[in-house]
Amino acid sequence: MTTQQQDFITNLRASIANNTFVRVTLSKPCQKNADLQKIYVKPAIIRKDLMLTFTLRHQTKDITKNFSIEDGIREIEKYHGETFLIASQFNTDRDWILKAGKKGKFALQSTPPTFTTPPELKHDKQKNHIAKGADYLTELGVTNSKGKVSKDMGDKFKQINKFVEIIAGLVEKADFLQKKSTIKVTDMGAGKGYLTFAVYDYLVNKMNLKAEVIGVEIRPDLIKLCNTAAQKIEFKGLRFEEGYIGNYDLPKTDVLIALHACDTATDDAIQKGIEAEAELIICAPCCHKQVRKAMTKSETLDSILNYGILKERQAEIVTDTIRALLLEANGYKTKVFEFISTEHTGKNVMVIGTKHKRPVDKEKYETEIKKLKQEFGINQHYLETIL
Ligand SMILES: C[S@@+](CC[C@H](N)C(=O)[O-])C[C@H]1O[C@@H](n2cnc3c(N)ncnc32)[C@H](O)[C@@H]1O
Repeated sequence: MTTQQQDFITNLRASIANNTFVRVTLSKPCQKNADLQKIYVKPAIIRKDLMLTFTLRHQTKDITKNFSIEDGIREIEKYHGETFLIASQFNTDRDWILKAGKKGKFALQSTPPTFTTPPELKHDKQKNHIAKGADYLTELGVTNSKGKVSKDMGDKFKQINKFVEIIAGLVEKADFLQKKSTIKVTDMGAGKGYLTFAVYDYLVNKMNLKAEVIGVEIRPDLIKLCNTAAQKIEFKGLRFEEGYIGNYDLPKTDVLIALHACDTATDDAIQKGIEAEAELIICAPCCHKQVRKAMTKSETLDSILNYGILKERQAEIVTDTIRALLLEANGYKTKVFEFISTEHTGKNVMVIGTKHKRPVDKEKYETEIKKLKQEFGINQHYLETIL
């Protein structure tokens, strides 16, 4: 360890001991395009012990880990230099910035404190963007009048919170969205509106942004129920419209959401989002009937297609891979990941496309799609056809 690193750690130990420590931020990843973007380290009391809480900010999610003080300091030492170039230590008396340079050199700089009050040492189990306590949850029956999660609504509650966490990660990173005078969001196949209300609540009530959120749904009973609830709790920029996704005349939209819209309704939604040049397209596909039916037997596939559940999973993988490739081909940087544990829902894959302006080698993606279709004997992928 260099003298600068040692000094940084010595100061950190001292500030934790003196209760002047506010937080450490590890920033500037060594690898360009790294998934792990930043780490925030804060002191917290957990089960009566002073610990260090790490929030690992990835591109689309936050992961929280708690460490004892010594283990936490070792983690900071490990991450700095290896994964991040800058470690900023904020104390109420002095800040310390440690920068990793070329050839293993480090520079330590001291600056006046950014924060002058020490943090509250409470373990913040619920992040402030989490939905708990929000009026709409009670209105939709997720929580009771005392704010307790209703019976049989535990999974839905977890799903809503996870979704809000993902949205929060995306919005916090997307400066251009926050700068818009009104963020326009359309949720296709909104169902009972849980996630539509959640996104509105997060943008307007938690982030203080102006947003116009529309939920599109084919069932008139749900439209009525959701519009009544939105009016009752005065979510003024939220409304629900009856419509069939494939025919819906999508107005200018910044964020297109389609969560668990059945089978090819997801494709219709993606196509509408691409056409409307939405900045973000967020979908969690549901069933994959179209491709499952289109898969024909072949030498390689025979053994898989003989087993229903494996055929189902194979169809899911092929369908969503082609969706991701089509998004890429249309100028969206695309991620596919599991957004909630399978214990809460089996439909847990999320596909997120973020619009970019870089040139795209469309042919490359078309060739990949063609190869996949040939390999799996698929003559048609619905999204490809409608695009
Ligand atoms: C499984 S629910 C999901 C609801 C909500 N997005 C969620 O994740 O909680 C799917 C909803 O999409 C609606 N839906 C399916 N196909 C649709 C279509 N083509 N146009 C409009 N709504 C559709 C269904 O009526 C249903 O309410």
